[in-house]
Amino acid sequence: MQQDDFPVRISGLVNRFGDQTVHDDLTLDVRKGEILGVVGGSGTGKSVLMRSIIGLQRPVAGQIEVFGNSITDAEPDEEIGVRCRWGVLFQGGALFSTLTVGENVQVPLKQFYPELGRELLREIAQYKVMLSGLPADATSKYPAELSGGMKKRAGLARALALDPELLFLDEPTAGLDPIGAAKFDQLTKELKETLGLTVFLITHDLDTLYEICDRVAVLADKKVIAVGTIPELLATDHPWIQDYFTGPRGRAAQAAQARESKRAMSSNSRAMDKPAGKGA
Ligand SMILES: Nc1ncnc2c1ncn2[C@@H]1O[C@H](COP(=O)(O)OP(=O)(O)OP(=O)(O)O)[C@@H](O)[C@H]1O
Ligand SMILES: [Mg+2]
Repeated sequence: MQQDDFPVRISGLVNRFGDQTVHDDLTLDVRKGEILGVVGGSGTGKSVLMRSIIGLQRPVAGQIEVFGNSITDAEPDEEIGVRCRWGVLFQGGALFSTLTVGENVQVPLKQFYPELGRELLREIAQYKVMLSGLPADATSKYPAELSGGMKKRAGLARALALDPELLFLDEPTAGLDPIGAAKFDQLTKELKETLGLTVFLITHDLDTLYEICDRVAVLADKKVIAVGTIPELLATDHPWIQDYFTGPRGRAAQAAQARESKRAMSSNSRAMDKPAGKGA
């Protein structure tokens, strides 16, 4: 594989807060066009890893490249030409409470394209809000007027503001009801497929991992201890991975996915039967 095949490359990453070491010699590559699930116990440093990649957390050591540009060598405010190529949905949403949804979406647009006129800004924001599955009238609402699921979608709309190639989602389905979470998963998958996005998706949600992730990276012991498809991870004998994927919740998610595949296969074969049936 070539450099271009990995929008994100991380090697030898070390992050420390005081005497607490969060990452120690962590290495991870994200492949172009994949949804990479990132899992690990609470406090293992998933959000810190994401913040390091987007330059908000300066590591103690290591190299991070995004689209071939070094994030670790750059100053936090330095223009490195790649910041406008990613979008971020932070854990908890991080919407500006005094701005409407539409104005929230306009924030990155104004930052990177100050020359855009008001009408165009308004139109782009409206389009992103609808792309995120919100009704058009949500554009003029304030975050406090939205449900938790709508806030996530509003955060997604803002993350999509700049037509990113790389999307970071930190716990996008946390706190959503199962139906809302499944819809958000499908939206993420559709955006990946239609817009050709690469997605770095931090989640605790086993259904999300089984349903939409191409590969999963597991954070434990201050490193990425394994990365691969779920069957590949299951073939490892690390106790945390085994407990996570084969514990009661893991088994339930696996069974749900098996049911879904079976349903999809039978509806496909019914669809294939139809034309033959007509002609016979
Ligand atoms: N700015 C900071 N200053 C000091 N410690 C921090 C800071 N940010 C994170 N930490 C610590 O780093 C560790 C990893 O935090 P992080 O938020 O990355 O965890 P996480 O894996 O995202 O957990 P969760 O699943 O609960 O979101 C935690 O122990 C946290 O307290
Ligand atoms: Mg976190």
